[in-house]
Amino acid sequence: MIKNYSKTDKFIIKSNEMIDILFNIKGSGRDYPAKNVDEGQMTNVEKKLVTNLMRVNHSGEVAAQGLYIGHALSAKTLEQKNMMLNMASEEKDHLEWCDKRIKELKGNTSLFNPLWFIGSIGLGFLSGITNDKKSLGFLEETEIQVTDHLDSHIKRLPENDHKTQAILQRMKSDEKSHSETAHNFGAEELPPKIKKAMKIIANMMKFASFRL
Ligand SMILES: [Fe+2]
Ligand SMILES: [Fe+2]
Repeated sequence: MIKNYSKTDKFIIKSNEMIDILFNIKGSGRDYPAKNVDEGQMTNVEKKLVTNLMRVNHSGEVAAQGLYIGHALSAKTLEQKNMMLNMASEEKDHLEWCDKRIKELKGNTSLFNPLWFIGSIGLGFLSGITNDKKSLGFLEETEIQVTDHLDSHIKRLPENDHKTQAILQRMKSDEKSHSETAHNFGAEELPPKIKKAMKIIANMMKFASFRL
């Protein structure tokens, strides 16, 4: 049966849908990659370094949540919206894994996270209302930069920290597959200037979250 919804009904339906997207993203339920990995011997200096690195990665995942949520809110097709929500759910796993690792090391997450979250929702939303190929190009480039960034963190990990190693390797493989998904959906490559601007913004975030 086809219902004729009034404008108020449509507004309520849309609002509920938006609230659901904003606050109800769930992880995909995968196991913590470091679950069966033993805690290696680390000095306090090494623990501090890993905590700071993981605080940066946690902030990155907060931003990823915002970005995919923003994209889902402005997605033009149901297919694209579902793709965004599916990736947001995998990013939620990453967020939970980073949070768990920081807690294991008795550290804190970043004070700036609310700022990254709100800013990224806005950025994702704006990017999502441009044409689909450009918006996917933005996502593909983000994921490529995140993959490179994770690689640089993996190289900086203390030799004995196999737990963080397992987490970051798993995240890196997911981010790579996210960039491939965006590419396969027809992402358009961004101009070099935009790529550079994205790197500058990401470096500012990393600088702030590494410290606080
Ligand atoms: Fe992620
Ligand atoms: Fe990702």
